[in-house]
Formats: sequence, structure tokens, C-alpha cells
Amino acid sequence: MSANTEFESQLQKRVEYAEQVIEKYLPAAEGNQKTVIEAMNYSVLAGGKRLRPVLLRESFELFHGTPEELAQPFMAAMEMIHTYSLVHDDLPAMDNDEYRRGRKTTHAVYGAGMATLAGDGLLNYAFETALKASAFAGEHQDRLIAALKVLGEKAGIYGMVGGQCADIEAEKRSDLTQEELLFIHENKTAAMIESSLMIGAILAGAAEADVQKMQRIGHNIGVAFQIQDDILDVTGNQEELGKPIGSDEKNGKTTYVTLFGLEKSKQDVAALSEEAVRLTQQLGEEDAFLLQLIRWLISREK
Ligand code: IPE
Ligand code: IPE
Ligand code: MG
Ligand code: MG
Ligand code: MG
Repeated sequence: MSANTEFESQLQKRVEYAEQVIEKYLPAAEGNQKTVIEAMNYSVLAGGKRLRPVLLRESFELFHGTPEELAQPFMAAMEMIHTYSLVHDDLPAMDNDEYRRGRKTTHAVYGAGMATLAGDGLLNYAFETALKASAFAGEHQDRLIAALKVLGEKAGIYGMVGGQCADIEAEKRSDLTQEELLFIHENKTAAMIESSLMIGAILAGAAEADVQKMQRIGHNIGVAFQIQDDILDVTGNQEELGKPIGSDEKNGKTTYVTLFGLEKSKQDVAALSEEAVRLTQQLGEEDAFLLQLIRWLISREK
């Protein structure tokens, strides 16, 4: 088997594990609120790369966290928050996109009102779910509180929501600076990737300095991830991506590609990723799966 094939089967195993964990923690669609729960599950179960829960779990493993059940509610919670951000991002009042994860978007199926509530439901249920880790934290309840703090901050106004705010305000502006675009990428995308890596480390009981290192690694992976997302919005295809291309141009967004062109964008994805690899190597794990994953993301097509 080639190295590449071996990596891909390893990745698939991890994605399948994440899928099982996510499914286990989804709410049952019943009661008078059945429709909103259905809409929540529709978007979560549509698939996706499950990158954030996979990263959370890799980080937990890297720091020899136990028991595995302790990380699971946070893996599910992370994907719930990420999915809510996509449901809202696609709304007519935001990017107004019709396809996501290979399916009609939540608002296209359930209407904008129900899609808004599905996002709200996912965000709230994420915290209800993460708290279930308390049953597995034993004497380490302090780790749970520290992890919840990161989960809240990185998803909120000092993270993803803050980045989406700047993203909306940047629309139709032709004078956006590199610094302003970096703020958008760092917050709308990198923050959630940082928190995935940080939470895995925190739950495993890693030292504060190592949690900070995971944040830096996440920052590099996250900014590279959004640049690649901007590239694929131009060069990708809907079939593979599961979402429309040309969304950024349609909405008058300044992206890394409009600022710097495709070639430099690709170079910077590689450079940021290599920096993330270097930082990961400093943790003393020369053959960590995380290293291969970071390198693989450089050339992702979806
Ligand atoms: C899409 O995230 C939104 C961005 C932050 C770029 P992903 O590319 O991880 O989407 P899924 O989860 O695989 O659908
Ligand atoms: C959105 O960035 C990032 C989020 C916080 C959801 P994009 O708007 O570029 O993400 P896609 O391309 O729709 O997935
Ligand atoms: Mg957007
Ligand atoms: Mg979008
Ligand atoms: Mg995009």
C-alpha cells in the first residue's frame, strides 16, 4: 500500500469514529419541537469532513488523554457548533447559498425561520452535550470548566461570530486590507480549529504551555484552511465540494485570492501548514497522525 492510501484509510477510520460519536449525541426528533430537531439533524447528518472533532480527538490522544468518553461529548459539541455556523452562513441574509454538504441547504428545505432556529438549537445543544463530559471527568472537573471556557470564547464574539461580523461588513468593500482579511480568517475559521486542538489538550490534562502551542498550531492550520476554502471557491467544483463555487464573487467578498492571486494563495497555504508541522514536531511526536493530516490538508480538493 502506498503511504497515501495508508494515510487515507487511517483518516477514514477517524472520521467514522467521529461520525459515531456525533450520532450518539444527537437529540431524538420527537415532541412538539420535532421539526426544529429534524432540521438540526438534517444538517449535521449531511456529512462533511468532520475535521474539527477529528482534530480534537488527535490532540486528546497526543497528550495521552483518558478515558476516551471524556472527549466524545466535546467532539459532538464542536461539530454541532460548526454545523450551526454553516446553517446560518448559508441563510439568505448571509451568503445566500442553496447547497451544503451535497444537499439542499437547511433553509432551502425547512425555510429561513426554521433554519435560524436549527442553528440556535445546535449552538445551545452543543453546550448541553459538552456538559455530559462531567460524568467522565472524575476528579478533573476543572478540565471540563477550562474546556467549556475555550468552547464558548472561540465560537463567540471573540472568535467565530466576531469573524463573521467582520466578514459581513467587508462585503462590497474594495479597500479591504491584508490585516482586515487576516482578522476575518483568524476569527471566522481559525478560532474553531484552535479550540478543537486546545480542548483536546485541556481535557487530557496538558500543561498550559502545551495548550498554547496547540492554539498556535490551530491558528496556522485554520488560516491555511480558509485560504484553501477561498481558492476552492474559484477552482473547485460543486460536485466534489458539496457546495456552490463562486459564492464569494457573487457576494462581493474580498478573499485571499482576490487580494493576492491564486499562486501566492497556494504558496501561503503550504507555508502556514509547514509552520504548523514544525510546531507540532516540537511537541516531540515525529510520526503523529496530526502531522500527516496537516500536510494532507494543503492539497485538499474538498
Ligand atoms: C466550511 O468548513 C466553512 C469554513 C470554515 C471554511 P468545512 O470545509 O470544514 O466544512 P465541512 O464541515 O467539511 O462541511
Ligand atoms: C464561513 O466562510 C466560515 C464560517 C464561520 C461558517 P465561508 O462563507 O467562506 O464558508 P463556506 O465557503 O460557505 O463554507
Ligand atoms: Mg460566509
Ligand atoms: Mg459561505
Ligand atoms: Mg468559502
